[in-house]
Amino acid sequence: MSETKHAEGDLEMKAPRPVRYEDGWELYRKMGSPKFVAAPMVNQSELPFRLLNRKYKTELCYTPMLHAGLFSRDLNYRHDNFETCKEDRPLVAQFCANDPDTLLSAARHLEGQVDAIDLNFGCPQGIAKRGNYGAFLLSKPQIMKALVTKLHQNLSTPVTCKVRQLNTIDEQETLDMVQMLQDAGCHILTIHGRTKEMLKDKVGPCNFDIIKKVKAHLKIPVFANGGIETLEDVWNTIKYTGVDGVMVSEALLSNPALFAGPGAGPQSFYTGALGPYVDPVVLIREYLAYCKQYPRTVDSSMIRGHIFKILFRSLSAYNGLREELGNMYDPSNIEPLLAKIKERDEALSKEELEAQYAVIPTWYRRHQTHKHSTPKEEKEEVLQEVCPDGFANLFGSFEDGVVLEDTCEPCEAVEEEPANQREFKLHKKEKKKQRAAMKKERARASQAEKQAASAMSESSGESSSP
Ligand SMILES: Cc1cc2nc3c(=O)[nH]c(=O)nc-3n(C[C@H](O)[C@H](O)[C@H](O)COP(=O)(O)O)c2cc1C
Repeated sequence: MSETKHAEGDLEMKAPRPVRYEDGWELYRKMGSPKFVAAPMVNQSELPFRLLNRKYKTELCYTPMLHAGLFSRDLNYRHDNFETCKEDRPLVAQFCANDPDTLLSAARHLEGQVDAIDLNFGCPQGIAKRGNYGAFLLSKPQIMKALVTKLHQNLSTPVTCKVRQLNTIDEQETLDMVQMLQDAGCHILTIHGRTKEMLKDKVGPCNFDIIKKVKAHLKIPVFANGGIETLEDVWNTIKYTGVDGVMVSEALLSNPALFAGPGAGPQSFYTGALGPYVDPVVLIREYLAYCKQYPRTVDSSMIRGHIFKILFRSLSAYNGLREELGNMYDPSNIEPLLAKIKERDEALSKEELEAQYAVIPTWYRRHQTHKHSTPKEEKEEVLQEVCPDGFANLFGSFEDGVVLEDTCEPCEAVEEEPANQREFKLHKKEKKKQRAAMKKERARASQAEKQAASAMSESSGESSSP
């Protein structure tokens, strides 16, 4: 039972808030019944990138995972890691936590600013193991239940959860776990069809059958996550599993216009079925304009990470450009690099260009090629097994043998998410520097404004009026 303190000081026991599955549907409808969902991504789903996604038909966005402990007690952390605006809705804020009171105190800061608070039960990284959160809570159902119950009973903003499949042998365990979350008050559940052991070189294919079973088992809305590359994959996933929405991460980083489909904006010679659906140069310029408008939660490594993924094919085609981006002090000053790409492209004939880009996959595909460098026949077997209905673009038609070494630092740093302690300190240091520079800039601007105002009033004679 939750407690309410009266003015006189005595405690009144409130009846627990009932769990009504219908509330999940009410939330889903209130958010516009979103089918196209952008995933929470540490260092990558910040406000400017969310706005870019929304421009190209993403219907619901998640913030990057926020650390409940830091968020609840550190004003600077909140300032540096959460920003939203009128156009940034519907929005779900994601937390990692293992203590219900800390989680509640963190979530209270966002009450009314977001449509739901999501709990991360999916992060499989070492940092989550050390911090005892994410997918490492999947084996501690009592903690998961306590976290969801705490928010459901005490917060006016609804609670949602993102989980992974528990194990590949006993599917019932996964079904019991999601049922427990639903009964504790989870309004919408996202299921990633991979186990926590399936990461890095063991990532493997996503299991759409467990997603289908979870959807059939639960009474609340369900989102599918994992292994979606194209708009066709999105619709095939909905058709095969029956889910209410599809959450995409890596493919959106590579192709922020994914949900809008091919032809959603100006094309370049390598936009098409797999490439960014819109000219990557246009996407980058739009993203940078949003960064200029909302710079608070953005830093240069994030910007570099996005540019790297969107522009991956050109950066791979021409020597020296990756390094140039990696070494760029201010990656928002990207125009000279874009001009170099244009110049080198224009030095080739149309046929040469097509031949060049035909063998360079997108960032998403490079990643998959790297992870699934199996013979073609094997891939087709996997395809058959995982997607009996035929998910044409999930694992088929790789350029066999094309495995690009991904040595780019910004990208590596992102893939090691979430930040380890050292990275976190560096990040804090950089933010501190940025804040100091911003303060200096504000002081300079206000001084200049004052000088201009006084010059104006002098010239209009106002200074001599009584
Ligand atoms: C750069 C990056 C950052 C991520 N950060 C988070 C996060 O903050 N919270 C979370 O639950 N999952 C996070 N993930 C996992 C994704 O949300 C998603 O579950 C996973 O990538 C599988 O989906 P995909 O196949 O569409 O990429 C992250 C993934 C990437 C690539």
